[in-house]
Amino acid sequence: MAGYRVHEYDVLVVGAGGAGLRAAIAAAQEGARTAIVCKTLLGKAHTVMAEGGVAAALATVDSEDNWRVHFRDTMRGGKLINDWRMAMIHAQEAPDRVLELEEWGAVFDRTADGRILQRPFGGHRYARLAHVGDRTGLELVRTLQQKALSLGIDVFMETSIVRILKDSQRVAGALGFRRDTGELLVFRAKAVVLATGGIGKCYKVTSNSWEYTGDGQALAFWAGAELMDMEFVQFHPTGMVWPPSVRGVLVTEAVRGEGGVLLNSRGERFMFHYIPDYYRAETAETPQEADRWYHDKRNNRRPPELLPRDVVARAINAEIKAGRGSPHGGVYLDIASRRSPKEIKHLLPSMYEQFAKLADVDITKEPMEVGPTMHYMMGGIRVDPETAATSVPGLYAAGEVACGLHGANRLGGNSLSDLLVFGRRAGIYAARYANSLPQAPTFSGDEVETAANELIEPLHRADGENPFALQAELQETMQNLVGIVRTGDELKEALHKIQELKDRTKRVAAVGDVIYNPGWHMAISLGPLLVVAEAIALSALERRESRGAHTRDDYPKEDPHQASFNLVVSADLQGRPQLRKEPRPEMPQELKKILEEV
Ligand code: FUM
Repeated sequence: MAGYRVHEYDVLVVGAGGAGLRAAIAAAQEGARTAIVCKTLLGKAHTVMAEGGVAAALATVDSEDNWRVHFRDTMRGGKLINDWRMAMIHAQEAPDRVLELEEWGAVFDRTADGRILQRPFGGHRYARLAHVGDRTGLELVRTLQQKALSLGIDVFMETSIVRILKDSQRVAGALGFRRDTGELLVFRAKAVVLATGGIGKCYKVTSNSWEYTGDGQALAFWAGAELMDMEFVQFHPTGMVWPPSVRGVLVTEAVRGEGGVLLNSRGERFMFHYIPDYYRAETAETPQEADRWYHDKRNNRRPPELLPRDVVARAINAEIKAGRGSPHGGVYLDIASRRSPKEIKHLLPSMYEQFAKLADVDITKEPMEVGPTMHYMMGGIRVDPETAATSVPGLYAAGEVACGLHGANRLGGNSLSDLLVFGRRAGIYAARYANSLPQAPTFSGDEVETAANELIEPLHRADGENPFALQAELQETMQNLVGIVRTGDELKEALHKIQELKDRTKRVAAVGDVIYNPGWHMAISLGPLLVVAEAIALSALERRESRGAHTRDDYPKEDPHQASFNLVVSADLQGRPQLRKEPRPEMPQELKKILEEV
């Protein structure tokens, strides 16, 4: 690992999912020399797990739709704790971002008269999800990737970033290593955009794949930026539960959007028992009423399967706990009795294939077994709503790694529009910042050397803690004590365990050398995993109420007073997390009126 190569750019984008690609495109179009670094192969990103569609008020199916209703739905879904400025920008700009994607070659499903087809999803008042069957995220990544490459953006694949480098205050670049060769890489850059996605690998059951270890959140925290809303972790209601090897793999909400219903072991459509008062006026209370909605959406109330994700995930959890679950610890999702085999194969081709190949289940004939799976992080790096800038000059963040738009609970499909809208903004403002600097800030060689030595330490310990065992203990802790339903005592126990794991991580050891070594990679990932796990548990303990995806058994009600603040985590002088309440800015009258009126 001796020595390192130095690469120089104006803007370095870390992460090549939708947010990273969109940011890189925008930065390059602003004239910045731009590179993307990604941990795995280009195109393999959690963005593809947003299968059912991208939310934008295009009004192609429901002509009444507009940005105001989208804004209102997003704020309501987020339990009014969202950054209203982000929610407004997002709702206003999403349609243009989708149309631009189409100009760049994305092939959306069409209405009979040739417009972009939109489907219903949980918490959205109108059919708002532009989609490509159940492969929307994949089409989005494919299109953005093609556009980015056509602009000549450099890509460093299989490369992990482990430190943001700074001069005393500002970003000066980043340190990384190639996962296949172990070679150290130093990027000198005037601005860095973090777009590394989520934190799923803190949990045992997740739709996220191995890459999602909270790298961007930890890089920002270590660099002096702030994390916010970390108590809000989204459990998607429907992940696969059987066989064990695929537990957690996503079953798109589009199954329910296309008419699929949830049943318990007694064959009951149990969601009718879990309609919150907040949504009662617009939710059907009988199966007949729900079914009418599929035939004529006007004036009919929506099926309860299309309530926001936090509500549906809690309901499934409760049914399983009450002993009304399926044999493998889930519930049933039935589309077979609602749609013809031809329709299912046309509307949900990936789900058809996924269940046939992975579970030997023909979803045109039998129900799927599903259960909640950790899917998305609402919390993340605190950013300026307009520019996506963090509190560290030169550091930007967009997509799942950032926070604010979704508040306490994200609506399905808003992740794809989020990453298009704010990925673009992050790229533009990072490039403008970079272009305003006469030269790149400098960092000290000592900083690089210290970080490189820390990186290699696990390989020098002859004997120590096993990195995979430490990760498994962390996942068990987060799943059992910081899951869908939490209590103060459990959260304290989790924090105690996380502290123990942090101590043991100082003695983590990996055998072998730097050439493609998964044990060493896991040893390196423990640092970020523990930063985010601690921030989640601390914030969850502090928020003494139930709001959106954060459910406290010991504080089961939403407390209106606690809508007045967000929780912010930053590093103290010793690098330990400290928590504070950040008062929320007052919403202007015209936006308040939208919330009341629509
Ligand atoms: O269910 C889904 O297709 C996921 C969409 C999303 O997370 O936005």
